[in-house]
Amino acid sequence: MPTRPRISARISAISESATLAVDAKAKAMKAAGRPVIGFGAGEPDFPTPGYIVEAAIEAARDPRFHKYTPAGGLPELKKAIAAKTLRDSGLAVEASQVLVTNGGKQAVYEAFATLLDPGDEVVVVAPYWTTYPEAIKLAGGVQVDVVTDESTGYLASVEQLEAARTERTKVLLFVSPSNPTGAVYSREETEAIGRWAAEHGLWVVTDEIYEHLVYGGAEFTSIATAVPELGDRVVVLNGVAKTYAMTGWRVGWLIGPSDVVKAATNLQSHATSNVSNVAQMAALAAVSGDLSAVAEMRTAFDRRRQAMVRMLNEIPGVFCPEPKGAFYAYPTVKELLGKELRGRRPQSSAELAELILEEAEVAVVPGEAFGTPGYFRLSYALGDNDLAEGVSRLGKLLSEAR
Ligand SMILES: Cc1ncc(COP(=O)(O)O)c(C=O)c1O
Repeated sequence: MPTRPRISARISAISESATLAVDAKAKAMKAAGRPVIGFGAGEPDFPTPGYIVEAAIEAARDPRFHKYTPAGGLPELKKAIAAKTLRDSGLAVEASQVLVTNGGKQAVYEAFATLLDPGDEVVVVAPYWTTYPEAIKLAGGVQVDVVTDESTGYLASVEQLEAARTERTKVLLFVSPSNPTGAVYSREETEAIGRWAAEHGLWVVTDEIYEHLVYGGAEFTSIATAVPELGDRVVVLNGVAKTYAMTGWRVGWLIGPSDVVKAATNLQSHATSNVSNVAQMAALAAVSGDLSAVAEMRTAFDRRRQAMVRMLNEIPGVFCPEPKGAFYAYPTVKELLGKELRGRRPQSSAELAELILEEAEVAVVPGEAFGTPGYFRLSYALGDNDLAEGVSRLGKLLSEAR
């Protein structure tokens, strides 16, 4: 009897989300009564603002929302997203250029599925968010990494991007502010990169989900607006998760030229149909309202960011460039690898992260998850006391490394 693999090659090539895995392990240890402090989660620790929750409750009571609605999103939400995009990034789009998705994640998958044919290359700056490689692979695309490090604050130069370009390059993935590094490109840097992409006829997929989380003097620049030469070869990905503390509601969107949006909507119409109407109405309240809720969160995140970076840089063998956006710090721990620590000698950041979880009961995500071993990602979207306690436990343990 011929033995066929039970799981398709395409799907068995997908790895578990490392960030969710760390979070799950930390939560399991916590449930078992251990005082774990988790720096793994990529979500605000705040509840969703009350007026957004109220809009959802009202929607749940309205029979109109108990039925199927257009697969691409409620017309009033698409209109509000277009207006919000003009307000926040200066990009003028029609409601018909918006596709409402099940979180930013579905927008990522649909963007690559819609743009890529097998063998098409996507230039991706590493460290990168764990989901991109899987979405690119599943679409048949080939990811070409441009590796950055702490010496440039994890920013890629046009020269580096150009060195990665081949005849097969179709897309540049641009993410600023970045998960996992918190790097934010200046307007000048964004313009230079966008012009390079335009000059070579590349598409730009830009993930703007952290647009409102920038600190100090850093400013968010939308590459779609900054580089009009990109014309109709830009796809913007965004969502309500990070700005309005709405990770669990699962509403994101994709904005692009009408042919791309129409094709992606066809895909979604067969895959998932409309996003839950209750969640869409909550998102409508969010994007139609002001930005005071995110301003409050930003103040708290900024305070925690500064505390975390200061404390991390006090640990021998750890160096953390200042993150300018999102809510992550991305320190290098390369100097600690191979050293003796509590009777072990971790050789990789993954091994070191495991040791830290067991010995200090602190969960961090190793850089292996983001394409750059030798680093940790720590989210500072957690309470000030937990943050101070967690980093101080980390410091105490790592200071023992010999
Ligand atoms: C860079 C980036 N893009 C997109 C997303 C997707 O967010 P969601 O699917 O929760 O809307 C995330 C979530 O962690 C992210 O960090």
